Amino acid sequence: MGVEIRVEGLTKRFGRQVIWEDVSLTLPAGEISVLLGPSGTGKSVFLKTLIGLLRPERGHVWVGDQDVPRLSESKLYETRKLFGVLFQDGALFGSMNLFDNIAFPLREHTKKKEGEIKRIVMEKMELVGLVGAEGKLPGEISGGMRKRAGLARALVLDPEIILCDEPDSGLDPVRTSYLNQLIVDLNAQIGATILIVTHDINTARTVPDNIGLLFRRQLVMCGPREMLLSSEEPVVRQFLNARRVGPIGMSEEKDVSELEAEAKMGHDPGRLPPIPPQLLPSNGRVRPTQSPPGAWLRANGVTPPAGSFIDELGRNWLEEWPRYVATMSVGAGAPTRPGPVTQPGPGKTPPPPGGVRA
Ligand SMILES: Nc1ncnc2c1ncn2[C@@H]1O[C@H](COP(=O)(O)OP(=O)(O)OP(=O)(O)O)[C@@H](O)[C@H]1O
Ligand SMILES: [Mg+2]
Repeated sequence: MGVEIRVEGLTKRFGRQVIWEDVSLTLPAGEISVLLGPSGTGKSVFLKTLIGLLRPERGHVWVGDQDVPRLSESKLYETRKLFGVLFQDGALFGSMNLFDNIAFPLREHTKKKEGEIKRIVMEKMELVGLVGAEGKLPGEISGGMRKRAGLARALVLDPEIILCDEPDSGLDPVRTSYLNQLIVDLNAQIGATILIVTHDINTARTVPDNIGLLFRRQLVMCGPREMLLSSEEPVVRQFLNARRVGPIGMSEEKDVSELEAEAKMGHDPGRLPPIPPQLLPSNGRVRPTQSPPGAWLRANGVTPPAGSFIDELGRNWLEEWPRYVATMSVGAGAPTRPGPVTQPGPGKTPPPPGGVRA
C-alpha cells in the first residue's frame, strides 16, 4: 500500500544555476504531501528528478531499494511504472483524442486487451468527470478538462505513487474543492503515496498530511501539516498565510532595505490564523495514514491558535473526533465507497469536515 520515497542530499543545477541544494525529505508511504514554493524555485524540476527525467548533480532518491538517479535505463523504465504523473502542462498528445491519451500508458506498458483497456479508461474518465468527452482532442477542451484528463491518465496503471504538478491551476474554486476531495478519496481507496505541487493555500492547509516548502534554493521546512501551520519561521509563516509582510518579495527575496522599511512602518506578521480541520474522504471514513486533529501539536507541546479545528458548521473537531472515530469504526451505516454526503439526523455520525458541499 503506497511506497515510501526517501530523498537524501539532493542537489540540482543547470550549468552554473543552482536550483536547489542538499534537499532531504521523506514522503511517507500512503500519505498525502504538498510541496510549496514561490514560482521558479524548482518544484517542477524536483518532481522530474524524482521520476528520473532529470538527473541531479548529487544525492539519492530511494524508491524502495532503488536509487532513481543511479538506475540503468531498463531499471528506470520498470520503476517508473510505480508512478502516475500529472505534469504541469498536462502533457497530453495534441493529435490524440482523450480516450487514446488516457489509454496510452495501458497500451505502452501492459498487454491488456482493448476491451479491458476500454473498461479501465472509462472508469477513470468517470472518476474525473469526463465521460462524454472521449472523442475530443486536447485543443478542443478547457484547461480544467485537460488537467482532469492528465489526472485520469496518471491513474490508469493504479500507481503506488502519484505526483501532481499544480493539478488545480486554472481551475475555478468549486472545481478545486472537488479536485481536492477527489485526491483525498483516491488516497483513501488505493492508498497511494501522493505528492502535490500547488499554489493554492487552502489546498495546502486542508488536504495533506505533510507540507514541504522550497525557498531560496533550500527546503526551508518539511513535516506534518500541523507543524508547518503552527510554525513561527518567517518564510513558512508568510507563505502558508499568503501574506505580503515577510522575507518573500515579488522577485523571490526582499532586500535588507525593504525589510527595514517594513519594520519601520510597524508591519508585523500578525497572529497565526486558526488551523483548519483536515479534509476527510467523502465516505467519512478516516484514511489509514490520517492523524487525529491536534495530535502533532499535543505531542510537541504546541498550543494551537484560537479557533483551530473548528469547521464551517461550527463543530470543534478536537472534541468531536473521539466520538466520530468510535462511531465510524463500528460501521454505523457508513458507506464503504465514496458517495454523496448527507446531513445526519439526530444521533447519527456527523458529516466529516469539508465533506459538506453547499
Ligand atoms: N530543462 C531545463 N534546463 C534549464 N533550466 C531549467 C530547465 N527546467 C527548468 N529550468 C529552470 O529551473 C528553474 C526552476 O524551474 P521550475 O519549472 O522547476 O520552477 P517551479 O517552481 O515549478 O515554478 P512554477 O511555480 O512557476 O511552476 C527555473 O529557473 C527554470 O528556468
Ligand atoms: Mg512548476
